[in-house]
Amino acid sequence: MQKEDLIKEAFIAMDNAYAPYSNYHVGAALLCKDGRIFHGANVENASFGGTNCAERSAVFAAYSEGYRKDTIEALAIVSDGNRVAAPCGICRQVLSELICGDTPIYLSNGKETVISSIDELLPFQFSEEDLDK
Ligand code: THU
Repeated sequence: MQKEDLIKEAFIAMDNAYAPYSNYHVGAALLCKDGRIFHGANVENASFGGTNCAERSAVFAAYSEGYRKDTIEALAIVSDGNRVAAPCGICRQVLSELICGDTPIYLSNGKETVISSIDELLPFQFSEEDLDK
């Protein structure tokens, strides 16, 4: 699958964003090596901390179905903002554990696309190895 097609899938996911507080809509599409695609959208809550970001929604959906980091091919994250948005800090931490460091991450707002990876977005990561005392 081409990156443009995965980005399209992320825009389809964005239609399901529940963002009554920020009115900022985000969608994600996670492509697995067997061709399966998991979608995610941001889901907000009146208690703002209860909000779940689109990319976490997608990666948690994949893990919930038994997929793991070595089975993940690429991740697209899109938003309806004026500029291309990169994952928030919490999502970077989560992605650093749940996808491979060099897995392509496509970021787009429909006008511009940036290709990155979690190793690029989050250098000097905290991981399970740091829990070893
Ligand atoms: N949001 C995401 O879904 N992904 C990100 O990486 C950045 C932020 C959502 C959370 C919230 O619903 C809205 O965007 C504004 O922060």
